[in-house]
Amino acid sequence: MTENSVPDRTQVGIVGGGPAGLMLGQLLHLQGIDSVILERRPAEHVIERVRAGVLEQTTVDLLTEAGVGGRLHREGMRHDGIYIAFGGSRHHIDFSALTGGRTITIYGQNEVVRDLIDARRATGAPLLFETPDVSVQDLDTSRPRIRFSERGRPRELTCDFIAGCDGFHGICRASIPAARFRTFERIYPFGWLGILAAAPPASDEIVYSHHDRGFALFSMRSPTITRLYLQCAPDEDLDRWPDDRIWKELQTRLRTDDGWRPNEGAILQKGVTGMRSFVVEPMRHGPLFLAGDAAHIVPPTGAKGLNLAMADVWRLADALAAFYTSGNAGPLETYSDRGLRRVWRAQRFSWWMTSMLHKNESDTAFDERRQLAELDYLVSSSAAMTSLAESYSGAPLG
Ligand code: FAD
Ligand code: PHB
Repeated sequence: MTENSVPDRTQVGIVGGGPAGLMLGQLLHLQGIDSVILERRPAEHVIERVRAGVLEQTTVDLLTEAGVGGRLHREGMRHDGIYIAFGGSRHHIDFSALTGGRTITIYGQNEVVRDLIDARRATGAPLLFETPDVSVQDLDTSRPRIRFSERGRPRELTCDFIAGCDGFHGICRASIPAARFRTFERIYPFGWLGILAAAPPASDEIVYSHHDRGFALFSMRSPTITRLYLQCAPDEDLDRWPDDRIWKELQTRLRTDDGWRPNEGAILQKGVTGMRSFVVEPMRHGPLFLAGDAAHIVPPTGAKGLNLAMADVWRLADALAAFYTSGNAGPLETYSDRGLRRVWRAQRFSWWMTSMLHKNESDTAFDERRQLAELDYLVSSSAAMTSLAESYSGAPLG
């Protein structure tokens, strides 16, 4: 579907209309920089995909400054902290008190995407859905091109720069010659089975639970919708999980000795996600800049993926603005190095949260005791809680 007509030339060609691509388009529009966004999937698919839910304070501030925070402020659920549960008790970590007022907001990624698509449509700038055959060419020149087809007709878009915002399985990273980058990866021996349920959230804040039977997470989307996850095998077969088995397992892993337990309701959606940590270095090849999941993946335990994507496109938009307004290419040159510092900090944090909270079949009895000691230290030391609160609520940009 053509949203607005696509020219033959643009300043920034954006591959991928997920959160990273759409937000980059919005930030560039505010700077008066032209862009074209090409998205492989239909709009409804991108909007309905159930994924992230936690926005750092930094992301909320950025969306607000970008003029897309209206519904987020009306409907988002602001949380002062999280709970960590183990050994039958829930322990509160108060981010706001520990970090001088920083908070997180629960607002579904699909809502962020919906707001960004509405904003893009209002600008009249080109956003094309259902472009299955995008490829990037001439990355060794200063006139890179994107080939795609528009309603079956072959098209070519000449750009000054290309932003690869096409997620982990996209074509942009794959178009860089192998000798020009290095990757770092860890694949975890477990995944998450996630559900959306028509049930009012039983807790005012998220609960991360460490349990002998495996990790579980209680989250939410609205005053009537609960979001829950269970640690499972990375290739878990959903057919083996009828609704009553899911609820039984969630109740076992989440309920605490004070009688707290999640409310149950009709299951609206189910899915399994594998878990990996991944980084590509550098996040740039000539005129091609990678942003978001195209450049890095974190396991979801630290709730960092969407937030890192937002930080990347903020940095990229800022660097492009410096280039177009004053011819200063310096911030573009340092885009990757500056980003990788934030990326590796988020990698460390996400790996740490994942290893502290999940059950790993290869762990020895020593490892299990060490994990419990880590949790015990975390909830009894204000230094440890502050460290978690700082990383979880997110460092300011820049
Ligand atoms: P994507 O969302 O993957 O978007 C890329 C887009 O590019 C897609 O729309 C895709 O269709 C399109 N595309 C791909 N190839 C092409 C092509 N060849 N041509 C054109 N378009 C293409 N993060 C958090 O911060 N907080 C959380 O609480 C959180 N929870 C999560 C829970 C789960 C279960 C999962 C799976 C992820 C979670 N994440 C979380 C991570 C977060 O969802 C991702 O980091 C985020 O979607 C990254 O956005 P992106 O735009 O970089 O990539
Ligand atoms: C979610 O609400 O989907 C969610 C919350 C916390 C996480 C990951 C996902 O760490």
